[in-house]
Amino acid sequence: GGAGVIRRLVPRLIGLAPVRASLTRGPLATAIVDRFVAGQTDADAVTVVAGLADLGLRATVDLLGEQVTRSEDAVATVEAYRRLLDLADRAGCACGLDVSVKLSAIGQAVPHDGRKLSYENAAEIAAGAAAVNATVTLDMEDHTTTDATLDTVVELRRDFPSVGAVLQAQLRRTEADCRDLAREGSRVRLCKGAYREPAAVVCQGRGAVSAAYARCLGILVAGPGYPMIATHDPALISVASGLIEQVGRASDSYEFQLLHGVRQAEQRRLAARGATVRVYVPYGPDSLPYLTRRLVERPANLLLAARAMGER
Ligand code: FDA
Repeated sequence: GGAGVIRRLVPRLIGLAPVRASLTRGPLATAIVDRFVAGQTDADAVTVVAGLADLGLRATVDLLGEQVTRSEDAVATVEAYRRLLDLADRAGCACGLDVSVKLSAIGQAVPHDGRKLSYENAAEIAAGAAAVNATVTLDMEDHTTTDATLDTVVELRRDFPSVGAVLQAQLRRTEADCRDLAREGSRVRLCKGAYREPAAVVCQGRGAVSAAYARCLGILVAGPGYPMIATHDPALISVASGLIEQVGRASDSYEFQLLHGVRQAEQRRLAARGATVRVYVPYGPDSLPYLTRRLVERPANLLLAARAMGER
């Protein structure tokens, strides 16, 4: 259908130099970045985290960047996360904070010893987080990395039991992964999945992905772990709320997660109902891959940004 065409077209358009230029410079670029990204620096991110805390919302902060191929760049990312945690601590908002980390930003894609390097780097970030009572969640990237990332979560959890995993409902394998991960103490973020994947590994179509998401919710909400329900989809938020009520889950035994700049009224509404709500706060200069995913999953996001630009 039309949405499928747009989904195929947008990444191609973004591949064209003039389109890339207009997305990285100029007023439309600024409007898009302002809507979805907290800012360029860790100070910007901490300001947003503090603002969320004033509204009764928690945060998971993500330093933008991915697919690093040199170990020096991976180390620089680790240091940046440690500075961020330190800054949040000094600002009094590190306790209960989460950081979202992409293994490809800390070495997973470095030739030869990427697997080991990304594990060691993640452990270093986890140690920095633990020191200020914060936690780490490993973002999930494309399906070629799922096994390595889930294995790394298991390894990290030996020393840092609060490390969270992300599962993507669009992957056919995910229901089985939900059963594996629905354990005592495990933190699992369930999202639809933002990567374009080969047909063989995914459920086809929005309806099928939503149905898979609902089944995964059933497994996670009924289990003894800590589900993190990451979606803006009103239908799925209400499925989750229904399941939570049915099982009689305590309000501190799960959370909703939404992206910075998306459905802010809903973020507040969920919190006002007594749910824990955590907002994913990306920051840093390397925003193009993140923003591309936001535009591909919902081309209307471009209109929102364009409108915000018009209102200035
Ligand atoms: P989707 O985008 O399909 O939207 C469903 C409905 O929600 C829309 O029809 C509309 O009603 C409403 N809606 C959505 N956006 C709106 C807006 N701007 N304004 C008003 N209404 C809006 N992916 C991944 O692969 N790995 C990861 O680690 C993560 N991590 C992650 C963390 C968090 C906290 C979130 C929220 C998401 C992720 N994702 C992710 C991204 C995820 O996989 C997915 O691509 C997006 O969340 C989009 O899917 P939704 O479920 O939000 O619904």
